[in-house]
Amino acid sequence: MTETAADQTETFAPPEQFAAAANVKADEYERAEADYLGFWAEQSRELVDWHKDFDEILDWTNPPFAKWFVGGKLNVAYNCLDRHVLAGNGDRVAINFEGEPGDSRTFTYAELLAEVSKAANTLTDLGVKTGDRVAIYLPMIPEAVISMLACARLGAAHSVVFGGFSADALHSRIIDAEARVVITADGSYRRAKPTSLKPAVDEAIAQGDTPVEHVLVVKRTSQDVDWVEGRDQWWEDSVGQASDTHECEFFDSEHPLFILYTSGTTGKPKGILHTTGGYLTQVLYSMKAVFDIKPESDVFWCTADVGWITGHSYVTYGPLAAGTTQIIYEGTPDTPHQGRWWEIIEKYRATILYAAPTAIRTCMKWGEEIPAKYDLSSLRLLGSVGEPINPEAWRWYHRVIGGERCPIVDTWWQTETGAHMIAPLPGVLSTKPGSSQRPIPGISVDVVDDSGENPAGPEGGLLVIRRPWPSMLRGIWKDPERFKETYWSRFEDTYFAGDGARRDEDGDIWFLGRVDDVMNVSGHRLSTAEIESSLVAHSKVAEAAVVGAADDTSGQAVVAFVIVSNGVEDSPETSEELRQHVGKDIGPIAKPKKVHIVTDLPKTRSGKIMRRLLKDVAENREVGNTSTLADASVMDQIEKSITGS
Ligand code: PRX
Repeated sequence: MTETAADQTETFAPPEQFAAAANVKADEYERAEADYLGFWAEQSRELVDWHKDFDEILDWTNPPFAKWFVGGKLNVAYNCLDRHVLAGNGDRVAINFEGEPGDSRTFTYAELLAEVSKAANTLTDLGVKTGDRVAIYLPMIPEAVISMLACARLGAAHSVVFGGFSADALHSRIIDAEARVVITADGSYRRAKPTSLKPAVDEAIAQGDTPVEHVLVVKRTSQDVDWVEGRDQWWEDSVGQASDTHECEFFDSEHPLFILYTSGTTGKPKGILHTTGGYLTQVLYSMKAVFDIKPESDVFWCTADVGWITGHSYVTYGPLAAGTTQIIYEGTPDTPHQGRWWEIIEKYRATILYAAPTAIRTCMKWGEEIPAKYDLSSLRLLGSVGEPINPEAWRWYHRVIGGERCPIVDTWWQTETGAHMIAPLPGVLSTKPGSSQRPIPGISVDVVDDSGENPAGPEGGLLVIRRPWPSMLRGIWKDPERFKETYWSRFEDTYFAGDGARRDEDGDIWFLGRVDDVMNVSGHRLSTAEIESSLVAHSKVAEAAVVGAADDTSGQAVVAFVIVSNGVEDSPETSEELRQHVGKDIGPIAKPKKVHIVTDLPKTRSGKIMRRLLKDVAENREVGNTSTLADASVMDQIEKSITGS
């Protein structure tokens, strides 16, 4: 993956035809910068259907608590459905769903509106009211999107919990959000077999202290499930029978839309809160400017799961609010064969593909002869998200998947930012493999040194965001202090993103990974502290330190170093038991790739674990400066015990 300087300056101009037809032209940057608030107001009025226009664009009198489009009223679900039907586009396909076993379902906008209305009526029958929270623990099936939109319709915030998270993780998220209703499925198809979901919901509720009154269960696999009478209801028996008309109410621009939990630098996940008017504005603007969406002709496919922010903004809200046709696929890219994604693109004539670098690198490994078997000529634009894309993977994506005719938008953003922040405008900029390039119009970012005062040098620094932006998080659920402390305390009135970055000579931004204890495994965000607390909660563990080690496919891999309790055997079985424990405790994605049992951990004199040194070991590098260690011989012992294990 080593790149030369020449590789880093290679650029790809937008194809002429693409540039000529692009939604957004070069003057947009300047126009937006001349009056950024005016620019966002203009975008918002153009892209969002406001039931009542707003009076004030931004209220920033109480930073960091922003209010955007103050006084405006809207309904997000109305913007995703009703307005398209009212405009005469009810027959346009909204969702092409492809199940892993090969079953498929299609929903037009009119049909999707009917389904969402039924779900909204059912939730109302279950007592869900404006201002409540609903937990959604579903696989990638249309009901996930339908449930989210039904909540939005009612003004009840959803908290989607990724189906790969454990019962324990679900339990703590249900409690934190105080969700009274959980929507789940019996299971889903993954890797050619049914996996279960409902048992995790049962287990989470059985752990106690949850306010859950009802569980709505979608039948997907028809596997046997335990049933609690009075609490559990089949989706088809309730939603299936409900009225398919529903008048929606319109809510304040700052009404909560969803809470989404994400990993931070401490053990407890943060409930990131997003609201409606600003979120929808920026998500829609990114659909227009970054994805260059042409709703009447595009077939958009974002491969992310709705359990992550990418699925929220670019499966549920973005494509539907833009009124385009999209693809939703339930399963893995290699089931039943390694050409499955490309087969789906050929089948539905997808025009835009949005995927994570990990997936691209995996497909690279499988070989280019696999995509070569399919007709990918419908594609016109490619996107990348979740982690830095290495130039080699970028070029492969461009050549093999995009046939050298599709611009690639490498989009940098976060759960907290809600929508794209840094990405090339595909019809305007010449793209550069490996660089996200520039903030989108209306957004201003800086790369600064440790003091925050000066621009970082060529070696890089910290990414910060100086101005509020419409789709910014409005806080951490029930924890305003943590919100201030996490993002706004390092530099005054400036958002600290937690990412390292550098600018090249053209001013283009390159991401260098996280600068905090957050790991990025296959584009999924995990916290070292969360995995460490899971490990030390196990009776066999005395101490644990976790690092994210560079990995060719997944970007980073979780590597744990543990000191076991007295009398516990240092054996492969113990390591395996601990791996499984983390998988059960947090979810399979958090399972360490390796658990090294060691006799000591490198600590400074004040007792702080020096993860940097462990990272050197995990990445097979020469161990860096150990002069601040309380006991410098520790690293030798660790290296010895690892090479011996
Ligand atoms: O480190 C950055 C990385 O993913 C983090 C955000 O993770 P999450 O909130 O889970 O959202 C992922 C999807 C938006 C960021 O702090 N990241 C995301 N996109 C990129 C990226 N790093 C480099 N390049 C990207 N395009």
